[in-house]
Amino acid sequence: MIKENKKIKRIKTICCVGAGYVGGPSMAVIADRCPDLNIFVVDSNLQRVDAWNNDDLSKLPIYEPGLDKVVSRTRNRNLFFSNNIDESIKKADMVFISVNTPIKVKGIGAGQTSNLKWVEACARKIKEIATGHTIVVEKSTLPVKTAQSIKDILNSQDQNEVKNKSFSILSNPEFLAEGTAIENLEKPDRVLIGGEDKDAIDLLIQIYENWIPKNKILTTNLWSSELSKLTANAFLAQRISSINSISALCEKTGASVYEVSKAVGLDKRIGKEFLQAGPGFGGSCFKKDILNLVYLCNFYGLGTVADYWEQIIEINNWQQKRIYEIIVNRLFGNLAEKKIAILGFAFKANTNDTRESPAIEIAKNLLLEGAILNIHDPKVNKLQIESAIEVESKSKKSNLNIWNKFERIDDTVNGVDAIVILTDWEDYKNLDWIKISKLMRNPSWIFDTRSVLEKSQIKNLEANYWKLGDGFL
Ligand code: NAD
Ligand code: UGA
Repeated sequence: MIKENKKIKRIKTICCVGAGYVGGPSMAVIADRCPDLNIFVVDSNLQRVDAWNNDDLSKLPIYEPGLDKVVSRTRNRNLFFSNNIDESIKKADMVFISVNTPIKVKGIGAGQTSNLKWVEACARKIKEIATGHTIVVEKSTLPVKTAQSIKDILNSQDQNEVKNKSFSILSNPEFLAEGTAIENLEKPDRVLIGGEDKDAIDLLIQIYENWIPKNKILTTNLWSSELSKLTANAFLAQRISSINSISALCEKTGASVYEVSKAVGLDKRIGKEFLQAGPGFGGSCFKKDILNLVYLCNFYGLGTVADYWEQIIEINNWQQKRIYEIIVNRLFGNLAEKKIAILGFAFKANTNDTRESPAIEIAKNLLLEGAILNIHDPKVNKLQIESAIEVESKSKKSNLNIWNKFERIDDTVNGVDAIVILTDWEDYKNLDWIKISKLMRNPSWIFDTRSVLEKSQIKNLEANYWKLGDGFL
C-alpha cells in the first residue's frame, strides 16, 4: 500500500526502528494503551527479534518487571516484532528512531561524543523507503542539533528523483529508567515533544493522551527538547556524584552518609531522590550523555562549563577506584589467589543490563591484583560477564578458574575471604547474613557498597563489615 503525500489526519500505523531497552518496552506500552494503532518494531539484529517473539515470556531479550504481561496482551494483536524494516517503514505514518547512540570509539570526538552512524543509517533508510507524508520521531537520546542533520538527510533530493514524499521531524526523548520502565512509561512525570510542525505535534499528543493527562505533555522547540534530555541525565548523575563525594568524607569524619542524605533530602528544595551513595552510577546513558554535553560545550567555546560537567564523571570513576583500593588495603595489600565473591553484576537492581556497570571496573581491577572471583547475579548470564570484563573464566597459563558465575549464594560465598555487594538486588537483603559470614574464610570482610545489610543483620556477623559512607562498623 502506498500512502498519499498529504497531511495525516490520524496515526494508524507506527514503525519503531530499534527493539532495544527503549524501543521494545515503549512500543509495548503504546500498543497496550492504543489498541487501534498497529505498531511494527523492527531491528536488524535477528537474534533480538527472535527473542522478542519467543513464546516463553521469561526469555524476552530484556528483563523488566511487568514487561512480560504487557507483551502478552499486545504481541501479534497490534504489536509486531520483525526484521522487515523496509516493509514496516513503507506503511508507517510515524517512524520512531530508537537505535543505539554509544560514544564514538575512533575518529574525531572519539571517547567524547555519540556515534550517530545508526541514527544516520535510519534517516537514510526512511528517506529511501517512506512513502507519502511521514512523521519521523527522535526517541534516541541525541546531541542537540541532531534533528538538523536528520532533516537535511530526509529533505535532500537525488538527481532525477520525483519529490513524492515529505517529512516532519519531532524530538520525543525517553525518560524511563531501567528496572522501572513499565511504571515510568505508564505514569511518566512528563512527556516531552519538540518540533516545529504543529500538526505533527498534535498527532503525537493524541497518541499519548490515551493514557497521559494533558498537563503532563510538554511541547518545546526541537533544540530545547534535545537539550532537556541531556540536561536531565546530567542533573541526575550530578546528584549521585555529589552524594558519593560526601560518602568519602563521611568515612573520614565519623558521619554517616545515610544520615546526611536523609537530613539533606528532607529539604523540599533538594528532595530525597537520587541521593543514595553507591559504587558510582552505571548504565548506558549517564556517562555518554554527560560526555556529549561536555563535547557540545567545548564545541561552542564554553570550556569552563565543559570542565564543570566533566567533574561528575571524574568523581564517578574515582568512587569505583576508591572502593577497589579499600578492598585491597583491608586484605593486607595482597589479593593473590584470594577468593572474593561479587554479589550483583547488573548496573542496578531489576535489570539484566550490565552496560557501564561499576561491577565491571571493580572486578577487572580485583582480577588484575590476582584475586579469584565468584560472581553472582540473579539476571545476568555468564556470557554477558565474559564480554564485559573481557577476561576468559579460565586462566590459560594455570588452567585455574580465575572467575566463575554461580547460581546459588551459598556456593558463591563458600570459603571466600571477602564479599563485595555491588547491586542492590532485593534478594540480597533477605539473606541469612550470619550464616553466610560463617561460610567465609577467616579473617573475612563484607564490603557493602549498596547499604544492603540492616543494623540488626550486622550485629552478630562473623566477618568484618564495611559499609560505603559509614566505614568499618
Ligand atoms: P539498545 O542498544 O538496547 O537498542 C538499540 C537497537 O537498535 C539494537 O537492538 C540495534 O540492533 C538496533 N539498531 C541499530 N541500528 C539499526 C538500524 N539501522 N536498523 C534496525 N535496527 C537498528 O539501545 P537502548 O538502550 O534501547 O537505547 C536506545 C536509545 O535510547 C539511545 O539513544 C539511548 O541513549 C536512549 N535511552 C535509553 C534508555 C535506557 O534505559 N536504555 C533510556 C532513555 C533513553
Ligand atoms: C537513567 C535516568 O534515571 C532515566 O530518566 C533516563 O531515561 C535513563 O537514564 C537514560 O537516559 O538511559 P537508568 O540509567 O536506567 O536511568 O537508571 P537510574 O535509576 O537512573 O540509575 C542509574 C545509575 O545510578 C545506577 O547505577 C544506579 O544504581 C545509580 N544510582 C541511582 C545511585 O547510585 N544512587 C541513586 O540515588 C540513584
